[in-house]
Amino acid sequence: MSILDKIDINSTPKHIAIIMDGNGRWAQQKGHNRLFGHNFGVESVREVLKAAQKTNIEYLTLYAFSTENWNRPKEEVDGLMDLLIRTIGGEVEELHKSNVKISTIGDIGGLPTSCEKELIDAYEKTKNNTGVNLILALNYSSRWELTNAAKNIALKVELGDIKVSEINEQSIIRELSTSNIPDPELLIRTSGERRVSNFLLWQIAYSELHFTNVLWPDFKAQDLYGAILDYQSRERRFGKLSEQIDKNS
Ligand code: FPP
Repeated sequence: MSILDKIDINSTPKHIAIIMDGNGRWAQQKGHNRLFGHNFGVESVREVLKAAQKTNIEYLTLYAFSTENWNRPKEEVDGLMDLLIRTIGGEVEELHKSNVKISTIGDIGGLPTSCEKELIDAYEKTKNNTGVNLILALNYSSRWELTNAAKNIALKVELGDIKVSEINEQSIIRELSTSNIPDPELLIRTSGERRVSNFLLWQIAYSELHFTNVLWPDFKAQDLYGAILDYQSRERRFGKLSEQIDKNS
């Protein structure tokens, strides 16, 4: 029985978010520069997306560039931007053929104009697709997102559109960049680090966390299936007692 056959297809997570970590270490272990690792990381993105298409996963969110990543050496930032532009431009046709819908979360206006343009073309081309939703987190951080949400709500109060007493969880969710996306049931981080690094802090309140030592360029379909199996072995209680959980739901 293959690992894919062991997955209960009726209870796969709808939304998986991944912190793709370890590209730099992977390259350095092989005596190459860090950009070599990022280039190989794209191959894992392709594989994981194909694997996601074989299960019931509807949303795949990938942390591709954080707000904090601008602090890396210029050569690496430029190389990453160049890689993003080439990859998005080069893959969009194939992604469109396989019915993938591309979107982003993050401050896309802060990316180089050519990158923003590739992204807008990719949204436009794939907007009517009904397969996996591929969400690229680019120039994204949760604190940026939550700060924006707070500002937008404050503005609505200032304009008299809502009262402070009316602010609730839904008012905050509406202001997040993920407002139309369900929360991820599963968050994966590769490379052995056990942190969430400013990623989807609101949205992962009840997510299951799966940490693996595998470095991102080595993370393949089998690793994704392994993470899903791990998720399916967990009991999700959402604050309730074990006895209160309907095991069949
Ligand atoms: C973290 O590894 C990885 C990144 C900052 C970049 C990830 C980007 C890609 C894999 C390209 C994806 C492209 C698309 C279009 C989705 P790291 O550099 O922090 O590794 P380290 O912890 O070993 O230094």
